[in-house]
Amino acid sequence: MPCMGKTMLADKYKNKKHVLVLGLESSCDETATSVVRRFKDGQIEVLSSIVASQDEIHAPYGGVVPEIAARAHMQKIEGLIGKAVDKAGVGWADLHAVAATSGPGLIGGVITGLMAAKGLAVSLDIPLIGVNHLEGHALSPRLTSDCPFPYLLLLVSGGHTQLLSVKGVGDFTRLGSTVDDAAGETFDKTAKVMGLGFPGGPAVERMASTGNPKAVKLPRPFFGKPHADFSFSGLKTATMRAYDKLDSNSKQDKADLAASFQQAVCDVLCDRTKYAMDKFNHGNNGSRRFVVAGGVAANACIRSALEALCADKNFILIAPPLKYCGDNGAMIALAGAERLVLGLVDGLDVSARPRWPLDQDSADKNPASGFGKKGPKS
Ligand code: KG4
Ligand code: ZN
Repeated sequence: MPCMGKTMLADKYKNKKHVLVLGLESSCDETATSVVRRFKDGQIEVLSSIVASQDEIHAPYGGVVPEIAARAHMQKIEGLIGKAVDKAGVGWADLHAVAATSGPGLIGGVITGLMAAKGLAVSLDIPLIGVNHLEGHALSPRLTSDCPFPYLLLLVSGGHTQLLSVKGVGDFTRLGSTVDDAAGETFDKTAKVMGLGFPGGPAVERMASTGNPKAVKLPRPFFGKPHADFSFSGLKTATMRAYDKLDSNSKQDKADLAASFQQAVCDVLCDRTKYAMDKFNHGNNGSRRFVVAGGVAANACIRSALEALCADKNFILIAPPLKYCGDNGAMIALAGAERLVLGLVDGLDVSARPRWPLDQDSADKNPASGFGKKGPKS
């Protein structure tokens, strides 16, 4: 790829009728590939999106095993790239760029996807874009909905729980984040302790469906506090203690605890979001758009509680469809396409970053805080 300045590159691609970008995602336990078309007016068409889950191979361990994940990505990625291009009905020569998650995430998986993308960029002579996985989630509602900037974002996944003001591509301000565990991580650990299986979020949700959410009294950390941060470790510990006291043979007791836990997470997410909505209202051109994204956004109880909150606070809720809540290649291809038309491409020396905060400003001010203690993507 000949060396071109950012402005020249932007001019080259933003004036095209459309750009076609291949996206690769391999930062945790999904190997995902996709081809996305971005039209000149910003409309998006997902031509293919393939997600190969590793749930089965990690299930016996009750969590993602990084070494096993990396091997599985290596075995699958080549075939899935071919499938995404075939399914999209385009030729290799039609691709304008290749984008891959270059962090944050489990380093073995990130390297696998990024190296595959580098190889393609060289052999096809097209630009390479290293995408922040969190930016993929942040832009994911734009795959299917009209969602102009700015908007308030609740990003809830296995490794992150953050409230951000999204002002543009690469332009994020963090309003709050978890000081310990991420929401998805709390679901996963609770499911593991209760013996519900892996991945924990959907397992807890299934079990909760027949339970009484008021049956067990559990804490709501930071509820009502004048800030937008989260904490889940106290809730997790309280749920574990409550489980120890249960008659473990009673399916109803288990369902009641799962429902009570899920309700506590729901209440905390809504309470912190409510605070952030008031903050966001100052200085965002009167935008009333609220986006929830990330794996936990697939939870029906959480979605409907946020819907009610939005109705109350006069916000419009925009949530990606379930298939784009969890990790997928389409959100990475989309972030790549948005970056391509801005001339934001990377050199072949771009490195894999296990940690990579979305909001660089606050990370610079206080690198140690606010991104969760030990989530795979903290
Ligand atoms: O976004 P994602 O696929 O990967 C990360 O970037 O972390 O999110 C995965 C997380 C897991 O912790 C999983 O248990 C959680 O999302 N999750 C859910 C549900 N579906 C997935 N949590 C609660 N309810 C669900 N239905
Ligand atoms: Zn994710």
